[in-house]
Amino acid sequence: MVRQEGNLIIEVLDASNVLSVQDIQKNCDEPVWATSSLLHLLNKGSGYGYILKYLNNSIGYILLRSLDNEEEVLSLGVLKSKRRQGIASKLFYEFEKGVIRKNVQRIILEVKVENYAAICFYEFLGLKKIKVLKDYYKAEKGYEDGLLLSKVYF
Ligand SMILES: CC(C)(COP(=O)(O)OP(=O)(O)OC[C@H]1O[C@@H](n2cnc3c(N)ncnc32)[C@H](O)[C@@H]1OP(=O)(O)O)[C@@H](O)C(=O)NCCC(=O)NCCS
Repeated sequence: MVRQEGNLIIEVLDASNVLSVQDIQKNCDEPVWATSSLLHLLNKGSGYGYILKYLNNSIGYILLRSLDNEEEVLSLGVLKSKRRQGIASKLFYEFEKGVIRKNVQRIILEVKVENYAAICFYEFLGLKKIKVLKDYYKAEKGYEDGLLLSKVYF
């Protein structure tokens, strides 16, 4: 456990809790990562993450990756029934504390241009739009544009 606030607990993702991410991704209608991909990220891919539990139920997660002088948000989600209660913000702030401690220059992430909620969320946290990534995501029919967002720390 890294942090407890009343009935909320933030844990570091590891082999014991990482599979809860899949349940949240299903609920979020987000791509569900294969078990092997999640474990590979944590064990071999410079990846890490946090999971937030309320009364011992997993309700939100963030998947992250360390690169050279920057860190990337790979995936983030909160159960539909628990949104707009500051859950994703708590996960992001946990991530951001590490970013500041490690003197990381900037964070980056990609999001679908259509994902209004996520873009509002990231702008709320101080990320800026860098560029549109044309046809970045494969859609049911054709492709969808992505948006590269970033926040610079120093
Ligand atoms: C994006 C997401 C993670 C936000 O989670 P959340 O726990 O609801 O976010 P928070 O409660 O911490 O929101 C903080 C602020 O972000 C902004 N925000 C969040 N959701 C928003 C929405 N649907 N519309 C407009 N602004 C929004 C608001 O400014 C909000 O503050 P407020 O509630 O006081 O107005 C959540 O909607 C989600 O899981 N979406 C599906 C998965 C996804 O799209 N992931 C991102 C892809 S990388």
